[in-house]
Amino acid sequence: MSILVTGGAGYIGSHTVVELLNIGQDVIIIDNFSNSKPEALESIRKITGKDFKFYEINYLDRNSLEKVFEENKDIESVINFAGFKAVGESVEKPIEYYTNNISGSLVLLDTMRKYGVKKFVFSSSATVYGNPERIPLTEDCKIGGTTNPYGTTKLYIEQILKDIYKSDNSWDIAILRYFNPVGAHESGLIGEEPQGIPNNLMPYIVRVAAGILKELSVYGNDYNTPDGTGVRDYIHVVDLAKGHIKAIEKLNKEKHGLFIYNLGTGVGYSVLDMVKAFEKTTGKKVPYKIAPRREGDIATCYSDPTKAKNELNWVATKTLEDMCRDSWKFIQNKM
Ligand code: UD1
Repeated sequence: MSILVTGGAGYIGSHTVVELLNIGQDVIIIDNFSNSKPEALESIRKITGKDFKFYEINYLDRNSLEKVFEENKDIESVINFAGFKAVGESVEKPIEYYTNNISGSLVLLDTMRKYGVKKFVFSSSATVYGNPERIPLTEDCKIGGTTNPYGTTKLYIEQILKDIYKSDNSWDIAILRYFNPVGAHESGLIGEEPQGIPNNLMPYIVRVAAGILKELSVYGNDYNTPDGTGVRDYIHVVDLAKGHIKAIEKLNKEKHGLFIYNLGTGVGYSVLDMVKAFEKTTGKKVPYKIAPRREGDIATCYSDPTKAKNELNWVATKTLEDMCRDSWKFIQNKM
């Protein structure tokens, strides 16, 4: 039986495919390289010594998607990583974001239904909690109040999945709410490659350390946090990838259901903690300046990952040092 991975050449998708191949799972990837490169596929083969089927298609293209299901009658489940994810860009291009993320998911889900495939794992985000009701965040915390179209697409797709499950409870759906994915595969062969100037903290730090960017702007040091800078739950992408394996196992084991899990470490680090940890691990300097707060940012966001521990038998095991070392190794390989 095969697992179809949409967006499998992307950052989290490629790491998840590696983990799937490592456990001997047959994988079919679709990707249109809108935010990834074909080399990632070669790197996956190199890391695992295994092969997979690949289709260069857009998941909005229903005819091409149907062809994939037609040619691969053994598809048993789908993990959906296809989606745009740049917060700032989503504010500029809401129509593109709603179309790609929401319409794309609907075309995919409708095609799955047509072919009787009803196991679905969805990449959601801690962004659905908006301004956190309480910290640490548990899965039953209030959701909503997203501050940008990217976050709203995650919120709406979660609702769509809940409605689909309500209408037909023979689906098995796992919604995974990622906290802040960072790091790269320890081989240094796959990692995060944002186009242009990165918005997220870790890709920015590595580029400053590498001399590609001059200095980091720390967005605000007057938050109500221990050192005044924003606190987040950074999680190593390989831990995150392994969370998907556990989610698939859960869907295969359970009778049917819709399950929601936070994937985080449960520990919060500030921006300055990240800078210090990066400098200590790599021996590189990360010059920074304190800048005004960034619009839409919150002071503190970290998970309570207990539910995933109890129900999936999953915990994040990689350290902050691993996250820094692996991010650094990847960018050095790229330079
Ligand atoms: C953002 C998105 C989230 C998305 C995640 C990963 C929001 C509210 N959150 O999370 O939906 O899933 O990215 O793509 O839109 N920082 C700096 N300087 C920088 C960059 C960041 O000080 O140059 C600080 C931020 O203010 C924040 C922390 O670093 O305190 C983390 O920022 P970032 O990596 O962008 O992630 P989030 O904003 O938490």
